[in-house]
Amino acid sequence: AFKPRVFSGIQPSGGLTLGNYLGALKRFADKQADGIETVYCVVDMHAITVWQDPEALRKQTRELTAGFIASGIDPEKSILFNQSQVAEHAQLAWIFNTVARMGWMQRMTQWKDKAGKNAQNASLGLFAYPALMAADILLYHATEVPVGEDQKQHVELTRDIAAKFNHDYGVDFFPMPDPVIEGAATRVMSLRDGTKKMSKSDPSDASRINMTDDADAIAKKIRKAKTDPEPLPDTAKGLEERPDARNLVNIYAALSDQTVDTVLAEMGGKQFSEFKPLLADLAVAKLSPISGEMQRLMQDPAEIDRILGRGAERAREIATPILQKTYDIVGM
Ligand code: ADP
Ligand code: NA
Repeated sequence: AFKPRVFSGIQPSGGLTLGNYLGALKRFADKQADGIETVYCVVDMHAITVWQDPEALRKQTRELTAGFIASGIDPEKSILFNQSQVAEHAQLAWIFNTVARMGWMQRMTQWKDKAGKNAQNASLGLFAYPALMAADILLYHATEVPVGEDQKQHVELTRDIAAKFNHDYGVDFFPMPDPVIEGAATRVMSLRDGTKKMSKSDPSDASRINMTDDADAIAKKIRKAKTDPEPLPDTAKGLEERPDARNLVNIYAALSDQTVDTVLAEMGGKQFSEFKPLLADLAVAKLSPISGEMQRLMQDPAEIDRILGRGAERAREIATPILQKTYDIVGM
């Protein structure tokens, strides 16, 4: 049996959204509060699978670190570090590149979405991304991976890589980590189109709430969010065919730590003209202290670098023996 341990990461590819907060950061903080060992990573090596301006990457790495801390990740309780500072991630990823099969990678929906019709021009790293992600997780023998819905397939691939490694080398060395996808907002949708994921890469800024948006911007985006003319239903079942309405209710539930049914027991029958201002107030109340704290932390970049340096040292204490043992199993 493997000791329970949580691992997850976020790319410093610029601009955290409400989707990253509810699908990832807020839940990372909840996991830390549960008392389980938690390892959280700024995954800069993943970010460079698509072009990143070097100065922007450096800034975004610090900004994301500030985002983790401002969201409640305590760098004393959790291990918080930057991927490229622990070289073992790249070393284990190479071994997993020899374990994973081309066909497995070709089936990844994120690869298909991101490479699009121009796959011949995508970087080799973008294709191999899931093997690096498997290395991130398995380098810590992590057993739980809290992620948004969109990352489920990659965690399943991680299990396939662990199983094939264990099978090929006749060992029981890597655990089978579970994707943990729970809560009301595992897939926060665009405010302009409830069938599309809210994303920092959407060209329309009105489609997303950025964690750095001020109160006016948040209120305006929620006021303009797409809805339908019906009032709110009394139960979650009444939202099944209403993706835009469902998205706003899910966001409200996640921000207020309630279930959708609890929210609707109170809000059912209200028009969106009444519900939207309540949602905007709640979003501002939850997000503005976080963005304020991020700004404060960003005034001392040397302190952020010190936190990341210390986090990398603590990460290596776990990672180094696991990589050494892996090399030994492989015959290296
Ligand atoms: P992004 O998808 O924003 O480019 P990442 O790939 O680094 O960012 O994802 C970081 C975490 O945020 C992952 O766990 C991912 O599942 C989660 N996440 C991203 N967007 C959403 C969303 N719209 N709803 C819920 N979770 C999300
Ligand atoms: Na993602």
